[in-house]
Amino acid sequence: MTSVTVRVPAKVNLQLSVGPPRDDGYHDLVNVFHAVSLFDEVTASGGPGGASTVAVEGESAGAVPLDGENLAVKAAHALAARAGRPLGARLLIRKAIPVAGGMAGGSADAAAALVACNELWGLGLSTRELMEIGADLGSDVPFALLGGTAVGTGRGEKLAPVAAAGRFHWVFALAEGGLSTAKVYAECDRLREAIGEQAGWPQPAELLMGALAAGDAQTLGKALVNDLQPAALMLCRPLARTLAAGRERGALGALVSGSGPTCAFLVESEAQASDLSIALDLSGVCRSLVTAYGPVPGATIVPAQR
Ligand code: C5P
Repeated sequence: MTSVTVRVPAKVNLQLSVGPPRDDGYHDLVNVFHAVSLFDEVTASGGPGGASTVAVEGESAGAVPLDGENLAVKAAHALAARAGRPLGARLLIRKAIPVAGGMAGGSADAAAALVACNELWGLGLSTRELMEIGADLGSDVPFALLGGTAVGTGRGEKLAPVAAAGRFHWVFALAEGGLSTAKVYAECDRLREAIGEQAGWPQPAELLMGALAAGDAQTLGKALVNDLQPAALMLCRPLARTLAAGRERGALGALVSGSGPTCAFLVESEAQASDLSIALDLSGVCRSLVTAYGPVPGATIVPAQR
């Protein structure tokens, strides 16, 4: 096999409940992940032998590191280390997921690189084994391998799939620039301390779980919650206007996606997603817009063209 291409989805968090900071610098979470139809593609080719390299094309490609800091390169190195062989690959990432946008684009690319290199190198590791390697690379990597809808606990890496009925439709408003996940968590802690709020132990929200099981978008829209949102709004003030614009134009629910700055709007149908996307574009409250639906599967090999 000379090359393998893997398609991997972005995520939005339907519930992101953040507990108190842990001794290791992370936070315990209840993180209801939902994979949506906005995909990066990673192609692995070449090898065996040598260090892995990466090139990036597409959405904000210039903002992606090309050195050993690249999460897809780290993934290839981690997989070669696990195999105990000097394996290398050339990675090409085609980005559609916003960079540092709160949609786990970097984690998605790491997950795709794990699946692509596992296949290219003929290692035969299971998804569960790739998820274990992925958890050391980033808290969101295991979910990018799993896809669908799932509750993440621990720092988000311990996953339990959730059966969601039907399909949910989304509009995503992409912002100028990105936000550092670590800075948004730190700002969340700072804000809580400033107002004397004690973070409780996070629990899955019953209303949200019921809405997912029933495929009830109206109720899901009311139940969406993100504890990182006040921090993201503090670090990126214009997002408040973006969220308000989506609510005023009929979104069932509006929230910052993960650590932001992408804003997510839940709507009733594909047609409404298209209408809201056009209306928000005209209102000029964000850099660009994409529509998507969820849930979709996690990182998947694209069959080779004949
Ligand atoms: O795991 P990942 O590398 O994606 O996390 C990036 C940063 O986000 C961490 O270094 C930490 O500051 C913050 N984080 C956290 N609690 C989590 C996940 C991430 O504080 N559960």
